[in-house]
Amino acid sequence: MKTGADYDWDHLIQERRVHRDVYTDPDLFEIEMRRIWGGVWTYLCHESEIPEKNSFKRVTMGKRDLIVTRDKEGVIRALYNRCAHRASTVCQEHSGKSATFVCPYHGWSYGVKGNLIGVPMPEGYGEDFDKSLLGLRQVPRVESFKGFVFATVNHAMPSLIDYLGIAGDVLTDFINRAPNGKLELGAGAWRNTYTGNWKLAWDNAADMYHVPFAHRSLVEMTLARSADKDAGASYARKPDAANIDSWSFEGGHTYLYHRPGMGPSIFERARPAPGTEIWANQLRKNIGDAEAEELLERVPGQGMNLNIFPNLMILASQVQVIDPITVDKTQLTWYATSLADAPDEANVIRMRIAEDFPNFGEVDDLEMFRRCWDGLQMDEVEWLDCSRGAHLSLKDTIDERGAIKASGTNEHTVRGYLGAYKQYMQQDAGAKTAV
Ligand code: FES
Ligand SMILES: [Fe+2]
Repeated sequence: MKTGADYDWDHLIQERRVHRDVYTDPDLFEIEMRRIWGGVWTYLCHESEIPEKNSFKRVTMGKRDLIVTRDKEGVIRALYNRCAHRASTVCQEHSGKSATFVCPYHGWSYGVKGNLIGVPMPEGYGEDFDKSLLGLRQVPRVESFKGFVFATVNHAMPSLIDYLGIAGDVLTDFINRAPNGKLELGAGAWRNTYTGNWKLAWDNAADMYHVPFAHRSLVEMTLARSADKDAGASYARKPDAANIDSWSFEGGHTYLYHRPGMGPSIFERARPAPGTEIWANQLRKNIGDAEAEELLERVPGQGMNLNIFPNLMILASQVQVIDPITVDKTQLTWYATSLADAPDEANVIRMRIAEDFPNFGEVDDLEMFRRCWDGLQMDEVEWLDCSRGAHLSLKDTIDERGAIKASGTNEHTVRGYLGAYKQYMQQDAGAKTAV
């Protein structure tokens, strides 16, 4: 099996271009599944998806099929969904509540801590059969950041908070938009699988360059329907000068901030969604105009894209997760988020607005990923260009927190994450063990 040391990284990832093999090589994908997925802190789920004791959610971390559980003391674990007997998966559900996981093959049963509770017909084993050695293995490091649960099998990684760095501060801003900082996932998800490598989605996550072209119909529709014809117009007509900033943070995280270009009210700026007026009026009637207006401003999300390498993306009010399946197949899941301490009327509107981009925008991106994948199949054409803005000195744009900031259409976000990726793929990922 190849390792990161078998590749010439300085050739594959250069300052202004990247080789197609980084997207298409199946051996390289296998290395990513160890050095990136689980090699760095990888997002698993939100605590609100496993709210009670014995709640569980099944997730993937690269090729690992994991059951994230909560025990009665509230401790969250990531158990390998793999029986200690002959390796069958023991949990077949996406989520639920259960005190035990019973293997369908020979009936071994496990608790939410992964402990082996019992085996059928135990008299068939000798006295040296030690149940304590035959539990479900678990990912050694699981940490939460304000409700967002991450894991790594890499003991050499810094703490989660250090890994997130400035991205953690931005994530905090996102969370604090919810009344009392209480955000919930669990209002449903939209899943899609595309033909293409996972990095096509990651490249796209902080790319404002494509928006006026790939999302032309959406941009024009927004302009046509907006009462404020200037809002967004500069972006549609002069994208480089638009009031949108992009950041590259250490570690491969990226960030787009659209809020300054969105006019005085985010709520007013949202594209029309079915039922909004009725629910907004109901809300005003129930809690009063002033409070309703304040809350409605929090409903659509913030006008931001925060991308926490390698798989968590926050888009406005939503959480999107990348799950690579094979080198040429990727699953994207969009989770709606709810404001835990807000009336239902507000969350209904939030849900309707959240449905907007997946339906009217994501379809464009998915089509682009597929077309890029088609283009990448021609192996004698080797390079992808990511040089936009590379001629500019970004030294002057490093903000006080050490993050690189530029216009939304500058491809420094692609160059930035590829630099981090290159390091992760070369580093000795430390002792990777399940416990
Ligand atoms: S494989 Fe699980 S009990 Fe046999
Ligand atoms: Fe897009």
